[in-house]
Amino acid sequence: MNKIRAAITGVGGYVPDYILTNKELETMVETSDEWITSRTGIKERRILKGENQGVSVMGIAAVKELIAKTKVDPKEIDCVIFATVTADMTFPATANIVATAVGATNAFSFDMGAACSGFIYALNTGASYIQSGMYKKVVVIGGDKMSSILDYTDRTTCIIFGDGAGCVLLEPTTEEVGVLDAILRSDGSGETYLHMKAGGSRIPASRESIEGRQHFVYQEGSAVFKFAVTNMADVSAELAERNNLTKENIQWLVPHQANKRIIDATANRVGISEEKVMMNIERYGNTTAGTIPLLLWDYEKKLKKGDNLILAAFGGGFTWGAVYVKWAYNS
Ligand code: UT7
Repeated sequence: MNKIRAAITGVGGYVPDYILTNKELETMVETSDEWITSRTGIKERRILKGENQGVSVMGIAAVKELIAKTKVDPKEIDCVIFATVTADMTFPATANIVATAVGATNAFSFDMGAACSGFIYALNTGASYIQSGMYKKVVVIGGDKMSSILDYTDRTTCIIFGDGAGCVLLEPTTEEVGVLDAILRSDGSGETYLHMKAGGSRIPASRESIEGRQHFVYQEGSAVFKFAVTNMADVSAELAERNNLTKENIQWLVPHQANKRIIDATANRVGISEEKVMMNIERYGNTTAGTIPLLLWDYEKKLKKGDNLILAAFGGGFTWGAVYVKWAYNS
């Protein structure tokens, strides 16, 4: 019997309308368009405005688009996984909210938290469900409403992140396409450098935690930068090597959009030229678990069946990894 593989058979995405430009940030913190552009590559990011608007709003919009494009019957969806660190609430899972809102009433659904690596962790989990033969249709979402946990008086973090969500549909195939290999890693000692201190069970919300501004992203940027450059590049090179992928037969690098300099370093390490590197950091900034599915969403029309893609990410935890995907369809 032929091996069952998990093919990506559709992509959906959503970014909010409001555009927060570097120019507007100049009016909020001591920074400049020149500094942000040269240090990160970001020109603008999207922000989800309005009362009671959680990350589910973006997840629902992305999955509705996916359903419309693929014409999948939502009742046939077996599982919905939502990778996010900005869930609507601690519980219930945001994936539950999304599944019900899109009519996936026969699905089981849960959230995964692996920060910026969340989507590739969730993609590999969803792919394993398909490969096992147990499930036939899995929706994997990656998205974050980073504006809900940013301190807009802290110029070292508020300039980097934005809001957005993307998703894919996974279905079985016996062709040699889909999610073909993955290397996923984590290192809990990275907690020191990138975290949100309060709001969990260790430091529940209190007057002190709020006054201490502990409900915001804390990042030691240059330390994270060093880990990110090394680990994202190493894991991508290891994955490429063990699958006999070279600069000639890799069509696309799909890197987490944290910093253009980290992306360039990863591309250089794998020997991939600029035109083969997916990039939208200038328009969306770092949407955490949203970056990779939003790249697939933006570039979908350029992808051809049989293209070799390396998806690579690094983020809080630390978590990092790379996934080898052979594209399964022509748009
Ligand atoms: O996605 C999850 C994982 N996260 C990442 O991968 C992020 C990794 N880190 C980075 O991308 C970069 O470290 C940053 C973009 C966060 C910062 O860039 P950097 O080149 O590492 O700058 P730095 O933190 O070393 O700061 C350099 C200088 C400092 O001033 P002094 O001490 O040299 O006088 C900062 O205070 O730049 C200053 N600075 C700013 N200046 C203008 C920091 N933020 C800003 C700002 N505008 N927004």
